[in-house]
Amino acid sequence: MLKVNKVDTFYGKSQALWDVSLDIKEAEIVALIGANGAGKTTLLNTISGVLVPTSGTVEFIGQKIDGMAPHRIVGMGLSHIPEGRRLFVEMSVRENLEMGAYSSRAWKHRAETFEQVYKIFPILKERAGQLARTLSGGEQQMLAMGRGLMSRPKLCMFDEPSYGLAPRLLREVFEAIKSLREQGITILLIEQNVRNTLDISDRAYVLENGRIALEGKSQDLLKKELIKKSYLGL
Ligand SMILES: Nc1ncnc2c1ncn2[C@@H]1O[C@H](COP(=O)(O)OP(=O)(O)OP(=O)(O)O)[C@@H](O)[C@H]1O
Ligand SMILES: [Mg+2]
Repeated sequence: MLKVNKVDTFYGKSQALWDVSLDIKEAEIVALIGANGAGKTTLLNTISGVLVPTSGTVEFIGQKIDGMAPHRIVGMGLSHIPEGRRLFVEMSVRENLEMGAYSSRAWKHRAETFEQVYKIFPILKERAGQLARTLSGGEQQMLAMGRGLMSRPKLCMFDEPSYGLAPRLLREVFEAIKSLREQGITILLIEQNVRNTLDISDRAYVLENGRIALEGKSQDLLKKELIKKSYLGL
């Protein structure tokens, strides 16, 4: 479904990704793990068209998307739920969700998608008329995820959805991600919470200093020394 092939990405003269390759099959949950500054967000931005790689390619459902405008990539069914939520804080919950459905394909089906999103996150229905800035941190995270779903994605990329959440909400976020996969949505998940992430994902990639250091089945990675020492504190 998604194929990143030997990508290099720069910020000006400073290189952030080196020769990064990654692929995701339909209905997989794939995790991307790495320390602060490893290049995880840079890789998602390179996939979603916010950044353009200087070499290498990105393909989504068989079509080359590197160099394509981000809104067109969303229109093809690839949704990016960014780090730090990036909500429209002076708009209501309902309006934030509507903003997620701006592509013409999604707009036509928005009534139905609203119901699906409200089913996954009932709290958003209760709060539909409330300004986004008045939601709790956990509710804001759910709104960011809900907004990403409003584009009716085939593949969803989440950048640290559990960031700053209490354990109970953290479980809810992971449950929500599992339920998306059950609905046939493919997932690329960035998380610092390595144990939980390897538990819910099928496969994972470890990014270190802008390079893929390790990849494999998540259950196998749990046994690797590098993972145990550097990411699980064992
Ligand atoms: N806009 C930018 N301009 C210049 N350098 C940047 C920019 N954004 C990120 N970088 C650098 O690129 C590298 C990778 O950053 P990135 O944000 O991708 O890391 P990350 O793995 O997402 O980290 P975190 O876990 O802290 O979110 C870092 O060294 C960072 O300082
Ligand atoms: Mg990041």
